[in-house]
Amino acid sequence: MSSPRWLRRTGAPRLEYGADYNPEQWPREVWDDDVRAMREAGVTIVSLGIFSWARLEPADGEFDFGWLDEAMDLLHANGILVDLATATASPPPWLTAAHPEVLPIDQQGRTVWPGGRQHWRPTSKIFRRYALRLVRELGTHYANHPALAAWHVNNELGCHNLYDFSDDAAVAFRDWLRSRYATLDALNHAWGTAFWSQHYTAWEQILPPRLAATHPNPTQQLDFKRFSSDVLKDHLIAERELLRELTPEVPVTTNFMVVGETKGMNYADWAAEVDFVANDHYTHPGPRSRDELSFAANRVGNLAGGAPWFLMEHSTSAVNWQPVNVPKRPGELARDSLTHVAHGADAVCFFQWRQSRAGAEKYHSAMLPHAGTGSALFRAVVSLGERLRDLAFVAGTHRTRARAAIVFDWESWWAAEQDSHPTDRLRYQQEALDWYSAFLDLGVRVDVVPASAPLAEYAFVAAPILHVVPAALAERLTSYVHNGGHLVTTYFSGIVDENDHVWLGGYPGALRELLGLRIEEFAPLLDDESAALDNGTTGTLWTDRIDLTSPATEVLASYKTGEMAGRPAVTRHPAGAGSAGYVSTRLGPAGIAAVLGEFLDRAAVRSELPPDLRGRVELTVRDGIRFLLNRTDAPVDLTSLGADVPVLAARAVAAIRA
Ligand code: GLA
Ligand code: GLA
Repeated sequence: MSSPRWLRRTGAPRLEYGADYNPEQWPREVWDDDVRAMREAGVTIVSLGIFSWARLEPADGEFDFGWLDEAMDLLHANGILVDLATATASPPPWLTAAHPEVLPIDQQGRTVWPGGRQHWRPTSKIFRRYALRLVRELGTHYANHPALAAWHVNNELGCHNLYDFSDDAAVAFRDWLRSRYATLDALNHAWGTAFWSQHYTAWEQILPPRLAATHPNPTQQLDFKRFSSDVLKDHLIAERELLRELTPEVPVTTNFMVVGETKGMNYADWAAEVDFVANDHYTHPGPRSRDELSFAANRVGNLAGGAPWFLMEHSTSAVNWQPVNVPKRPGELARDSLTHVAHGADAVCFFQWRQSRAGAEKYHSAMLPHAGTGSALFRAVVSLGERLRDLAFVAGTHRTRARAAIVFDWESWWAAEQDSHPTDRLRYQQEALDWYSAFLDLGVRVDVVPASAPLAEYAFVAAPILHVVPAALAERLTSYVHNGGHLVTTYFSGIVDENDHVWLGGYPGALRELLGLRIEEFAPLLDDESAALDNGTTGTLWTDRIDLTSPATEVLASYKTGEMAGRPAVTRHPAGAGSAGYVSTRLGPAGIAAVLGEFLDRAAVRSELPPDLRGRVELTVRDGIRFLLNRTDAPVDLTSLGADVPVLAARAVAAIRA
């Protein structure tokens, strides 16, 4: 990654605080109330103009920046920085009326019409031309504005327009495939087109995986996922290059969506393209909500290479787009925000500043709710601003590397969940999150990293469902283990290469030798089935019929009942100076924790928390500053930590200065 750059600003280091600000939704007189309340809340930065294309360019080629000048000047006069959007996220009606050919086409061949937002084809040359013209106008106009601290490219690229099956997409897909494969022979081989009479004799015959009679070609699907992520990244790069030409001093970012099951954009591959990483995160209510928040923040922090990153959006309370939108409970706002800070965020921002009165998001919470400043929510917002000022000493610090890692791999996520597999119940992200929860339960710090991360820095690496293992990755993992690393992987790992072709000779072909075992057939479980293990844990979803192929392979747990009784379920194979472990079923967090302890012991990875705090608090470290996050709903007594006095003791979060 190009070395990360932070906001263009002066003054002492601080944590930034703010929101998306949409003044175009309000009469001018409201803006003065806005900035007054922003100052009261301690807002330092806003993202401006994200959805204002129709106001900035009311007709083709006619630009009106007057209102935005006024907003920028007002913010600057009040000491508030601007992360200025390029405003290309939602094209105005005049554009799509004149050029309906920029509208996306879905898999069934239906047009995605205007009326919502982000209704544009990532591969449309016409859209790109209009978008870049707007960026050029904005970049030129605001290049020297003193409030301009960063550029915000588009918005959540791929949120609604990730998969487009249009003719533009078809043409671009062929170009992408030409550069990946060079020859049709290579493509025919990679896609396995000897199957079902799919052999191509001309590039023009190739299409995106549009609605098909039955299971479309899996490698075509996987390549389309890669392509779709790449063309959105291309859009980011196109805007960024123009901005760098116009304003070389101003850093450029875009808001990622590392959250839950959002999987279409390969952010491990995008992270190098932004000057600093920014992310949007929204919680889903449920028992794993807190762990998922920490898991996502951890991934973002490591995508940023440990450097500070920007929490561009989260919510002060309820959202509007879940089936049931529950408000946050007292204390949750601060706890959620500070969890991101604990994982490396140097900016805490929300969608949005003032809750809309009209439009699809009028029931989405904001920093300033419908109820106004005289509300519990606004008081919580003001108090969070104070907490962030108390924590200014954290700004600029980097994540302190853990001794253990979880590999999170987008290609495996995509490939493992495709159709025509042993089960359609497998969920990559959930298995990875289970491992993460097990680490939290044991009180052991872990970094969630892409497969390309320097694994040798870690004593222990878990790689759940590492399904796609090209030869080079198999070699890296093998040398990691031989050089003393301790690796654990799970069911459905090491199965295919980068073309989604199965490694032959028994599963998991790419890792068979390293694991000292061999599997002839997968044995996924039906929904009402489970598999008891002799260590007291229970597996669901999947089992494997394991044969040990090395006398050195140790069996840590076996299946206890049924057809599998007596067969190994969890194994460890000492190899070189390290070991390679295998977990053949879905154990869930508690079951994983039961075997993880043993694996971690072997790797000499231990909890840094006193025993009474393990599992009850999460520990993160930024350059020696320790954050303690309460994982329970009750107060936790920290006296076992010793004489250190927390400098921050917001509800549920404490920070201890190095
Ligand atoms: C996304 C978008 C915002 C807003 C929020 C609502 O994060 O970027 O514009 O729609 O969702 O949660
Ligand atoms: C049908 C088809 C075969 C094959 C099988 C798979 O019988 O005729 O080509 O697809 O289903 O079960």
